[in-house]
Formats: sequence, C-alpha cells, structure tokens
Amino acid sequence: MKTTFLISALIAGSTAVAALAHGGATGIVKNRMDAMSNMGKVIKAVSPMMQGTAAYNADSVKRAAAFFAQHSGEAMTRMFPEGSGGKPSEARETIWSDWETFAGLAAQLGVAAQGLAVAADNGLMGDAAGTMSSDSMMGGGSTMMGSGSGMMGGGMMGGRMTVEQIGAMPADGAFAMVTQTCSACHTKFRLESK
Ligand code: HEC
Repeated sequence: MKTTFLISALIAGSTAVAALAHGGATGIVKNRMDAMSNMGKVIKAVSPMMQGTAAYNADSVKRAAAFFAQHSGEAMTRMFPEGSGGKPSEARETIWSDWETFAGLAAQLGVAAQGLAVAADNGLMGDAAGTMSSDSMMGGGSTMMGSGSGMMGGGMMGGRMTVEQIGAMPADGAFAMVTQTCSACHTKFRLESK
C-alpha cells in the first residue's frame, strides 16, 4: 500500500521534497536532478519487495518500470544539453566528449526497464525459498540475499541483453539489471557527490 502510494505520488510529479536538495540548481539541471531523485525514490520504494522484506506486488513493479522507461533514452539525454555541466551539477564533462557511451547507457536503462515490466509477472527468484519455514529463513536470510545480488552482479552486465531476455528473468534479476545501469552511468559520468 505504502509503496504503491509513493510510486503514484512520484509519477504524479510531486517533487517538492527533491527541490530542496539540489544546491540551488535551476532550469534543466534542476529538472534532471528532480527526475533522477525521483527514480532513486522509486528504486528505494521497490527494493524491499525485491528483497522479500515487503509483500511483492507486480503492479507496483510495472509502474516503477514504466517510470524508469519514461526517463530513459532520449527523455534522459535531452536533459543534458552541451554546456550544462559545472556547479551545482554533478555531471562530468565526459558526457559530452563521450556522448555515444552516455546515450548508450540511457538507452540501456530503457531496455532494462521494459524488461522489468515484462519480468514483473515472473515474481521473485527467491519465491521457491519463500515457502521455507520462518526459522530457516532467519538463519539463511542474509546469506541468501547476499548470494542473490552477487549472482546478478556478475557476468550479465557486459553483454547487452534484449527486452525479451531480461523479461524472462525473475523480477529481482531484472530489477538488478536496472540498478546496475543506474550505477554504471553514475560511475562513469557523475562526479562524487562529496
Ligand atoms: C545515462 C546516465 C545515467 C543513468 C542511466 C542514470 N543516471 Fe542518475 N545521474 C546521472 C548524472 C549525469 C547525474 C548528475 C546530474 C547533475 O547533477 O546534473 C545523475 C544524478 C542522479 C541522482 C542525484 C540527483 C540529485 O539530487 O542531484 C540520483 C538520485 C540518480 N541519478 C538516480 C538514478 C537512478 C535511480 C537511476 C536508474 C533508475 C539513474 N540515476 C540512471 C546519470 C545517469
């Protein structure tokens, strides 16, 4: 319920809170910071479901996926016009010297998000484990989570997967593809925030 509400509120565009945290950015820089912050909030809202600590809701996952898709590709790249770096922006100048890579990651977010929309109905990889008794969960919970994200973290990032391939994954795997794309772009194109 709470998650569904948060995602709905974000999609409706309530950005009042985000507006305070951007070091006085205005115009397109503020717009992209707002868009990015909102994606961050949607990630945070959906994460507990993906970790099995909140009830899984495929519709919320689909809405989150649609939100990421909306902010990917050209919708994202057109918020980074040349010359819009510099304080208070955290955008690296390499965005404009390596535009192809940047645009590629923005497009990849779209692919991962569309894949997640399809994968939402697959449920979690841990679903089989979800039927375990609660005390065995307590013992193994953290290890399981650790190995889950570890598996997704490896290997698959290198090759570009298609919407169909990502859509065939468990929802948490597809979600990891989304978050890895966020991180990949930040590592390369976003300055350290401190
Ligand atoms: C194609 C590159 C790219 C992708 C993909 C991307 N980001 Fe970003 N993100 C950036 C850049 C560049 C900035 C810095 C923008 C600025 O300060 O002008 C940023 C900033 C942010 C910020 C900080 C905003 C603020 O308040 O200043 C958050 C939060 C964020 N991104 C979340 C996400 C999430 C979540 C995803 C994935 C769903 C994502 N981003 C995908 C490039 C990307």
